[in-house]
Amino acid sequence: MSEITSRKDDHIDLAIASQHNFRDDRFEYEPMYGVHPDFKPDPFIFLGKKMNYPFWISSMTGGGSDSKKYNEIFASVCGDLGLGMGLGSCRALMEDQSLIKDFDLRSLLGPEAPFFMNLGIAQIAELISNGELNKLNDVLGALQADGLIVHINPLQEFFQPEGDLIVERPIDIVEKLKMKFLGTIVVKEIGQGMGSRSLKALSDLEIDGLELAGFGGTNFTKLEQIRTKSPENEFEFQSVGEPAIEMIRCLNELKSSMDIIISGGMNDPLEAYYHQSLCNNNSVIGQAHKVLEMAQLGRENLKTYITRFVLKMRLAQNYLTIKH
Ligand SMILES: Cc1cc2nc3c(=O)[nH]c(=O)nc-3n(C[C@H](O)[C@H](O)[C@H](O)COP(=O)(O)O)c2cc1C
Repeated sequence: MSEITSRKDDHIDLAIASQHNFRDDRFEYEPMYGVHPDFKPDPFIFLGKKMNYPFWISSMTGGGSDSKKYNEIFASVCGDLGLGMGLGSCRALMEDQSLIKDFDLRSLLGPEAPFFMNLGIAQIAELISNGELNKLNDVLGALQADGLIVHINPLQEFFQPEGDLIVERPIDIVEKLKMKFLGTIVVKEIGQGMGSRSLKALSDLEIDGLELAGFGGTNFTKLEQIRTKSPENEFEFQSVGEPAIEMIRCLNELKSSMDIIISGGMNDPLEAYYHQSLCNNNSVIGQAHKVLEMAQLGRENLKTYITRFVLKMRLAQNYLTIKH
């Protein structure tokens, strides 16, 4: 049977199963004006460095047993495609510099890609109060990283038995960091986003970048409650947070100049396109858990996933107009 005959037979067999009534009315579909997307690089500057496609691998592993393996997969795919990447928490590295082999990825990324180290707000507070910010510069230099991502995750820390107590307001710590640290600073939550007061304060401080890590993707309050199996904590505080779309609307009103990594459940290319189109700032789409899932099936699998994801965002861009 020829390929065409077999395909036509499939169409007849599957047509009944393919009725679909749900319509996404955020878009107007214009089949008359688009062409199919290609995968040509479209270089732009993000956080002071060059990227080819608006896709960021969000901070994940650091100090775990498989960290090196996954970090190398992430970095080599970023290097091949021209993407940006944030490391997972570098706390272990700050304490034991022999772990540098797990994080030493610049040669895989190449010199142009944005590459950021990552620490929690509690570690930043400690470095500042001990007058040890120079340690941060040492590690940044050793990694040849372009700057620092600071994660602020008080709900997770509270529900994590070994979590850090936040005793000083994160905004005050970030302000001190901004005064004393000359490098590029990005601030992020890790899955529950931030409300308008926090966003305004960061925008007023002229922080270089923000990763939204909005509500609707990986939820670390939930993760800790599952991990610790504590009946006392079950299901508490998991449902609070700010979705990326709300944060984008707020940032647009603030007319903030920060570069934005739009993340928090951005696993659907149509959602990603919608969010990025609404965001007035220079922005990229960030993903964590899906990237990890794809990397678990190997480097080529991750590279294909990201390539297809970017192509599908371009498909949306070519055929769909956002209704405002
Ligand atoms: C396995 C895993 C580990 C993570 N570790 C960190 C971390 O060390 N530091 C950090 O800032 N965020 C961390 N995150 C949060 C992600 O960077 C991201 O902001 C968040 O998961 C939302 O993206 P997602 O919905 O695509 O997973 C982690 C996420 C995952 C899935």
